[in-house]
Amino acid sequence: MQTSQAFTPPNRLLLGPGPSDAAPSVLTALSKPLLGHLDPAFIGMMEEIKSMLRQIFQTENEMTFPVSGTGSAGMEFCFVNLIEPGDDVVVCINGVFGMRMADLAIRCGANVTKVEAPWGEIIRPEQVKEAVAGKSPKLIALVHAETSTGALTPAEEISKIAHDAGALMLLDTVTSLGGCEVDIDGWSIDAVYSGTQKCLSCPPGLAPVSLSPKALKIANNRKTQVQSWYLDVNLLSGYWGTERVYHHTAPISMNYALHESLRLVLEEGLQTRWARHKANHEKLAAGLKKLGLGIASQEGHQLWQLNAVTVPEETDEAQVRKRLLEEYQIEVGAGLGPMKGKIWRVGLMGESSTAENVDRYLDAMTQILAH
Ligand SMILES: Cc1ncc(COP(=O)(O)O)c(C=O)c1O
Repeated sequence: MQTSQAFTPPNRLLLGPGPSDAAPSVLTALSKPLLGHLDPAFIGMMEEIKSMLRQIFQTENEMTFPVSGTGSAGMEFCFVNLIEPGDDVVVCINGVFGMRMADLAIRCGANVTKVEAPWGEIIRPEQVKEAVAGKSPKLIALVHAETSTGALTPAEEISKIAHDAGALMLLDTVTSLGGCEVDIDGWSIDAVYSGTQKCLSCPPGLAPVSLSPKALKIANNRKTQVQSWYLDVNLLSGYWGTERVYHHTAPISMNYALHESLRLVLEEGLQTRWARHKANHEKLAAGLKKLGLGIASQEGHQLWQLNAVTVPEETDEAQVRKRLLEEYQIEVGAGLGPMKGKIWRVGLMGESSTAENVDRYLDAMTQILAH
């Protein structure tokens, strides 16, 4: 039987919607010797991960840890633990990931009210206020940074509306965490999830989550059992809490990598890191303007870490992406849904957000568009 050769990935520059490039020390962490998942040394490292995640989420929530799975597992964790059949849920939808949250809420048996905005625009607080008027939903769900459109919806005011209506506030921070301000306690967010492969610059595979004491109490006192065994916080807290009882075998190497990437985020400092993302976004926007290109998402609410670059008329967007990848080794993303063919999604996330990378992308685009 023929065996295949060891896989050697090409050397790409990842400027798409994720994953972003990982720091060399994060990749080195992945190759360190394995430990048992109940080894005291591993458990000590888990405690450090929890503590660093609290600092980056800006929360004191005890129940803060990485779920084993990608960002979608974090989303599913929040819904399956907090929602029971028949619950009323308001889901804000202005792109792909809002739609995915609505799908999940429906799968949990919720009665879903959708608050929708055109793709590329933000969800306005007044829309949410109108949707909850005279009602008392259990939860309001919002995507902070819509990776499919490049829009950042401010969360604080919507969270206040949720609490005034007696609802829990759930926030998707998969693309925002580590790239712009995320202030879980300051904004009174009850449930939050993220992913490792965007502005934390770690490979995909873990989903940092955090539940407020109020949200945890709701999960602890459900009438029905959580329908997912794997994501049940009542079981997971036995492993990530003080008891340390076996639940599943934690992905050891991914946790090493997350530990290193969180360490790098804190070493840089949150404010400095956000300022770096802002500066590189501004540099990109200025360069795009010179090329006659723009950013499609709502003015004043454009993400720094994900840029929805307009495709000029009569340009074959797929061909441009292909040339960027094959000739310049640069990956960017295509538009999704109604934005398909209209935008390129250019990510400047975490390690990938550098002035040199912006120049490299703009130089390549200058040459490609000249032909
Ligand atoms: C805003 C947002 N939410 C959720 C997800 C799902 O994360 P994953 O693809 O890691 O499962 C993504 C992934 O791109 C995302 O951008």
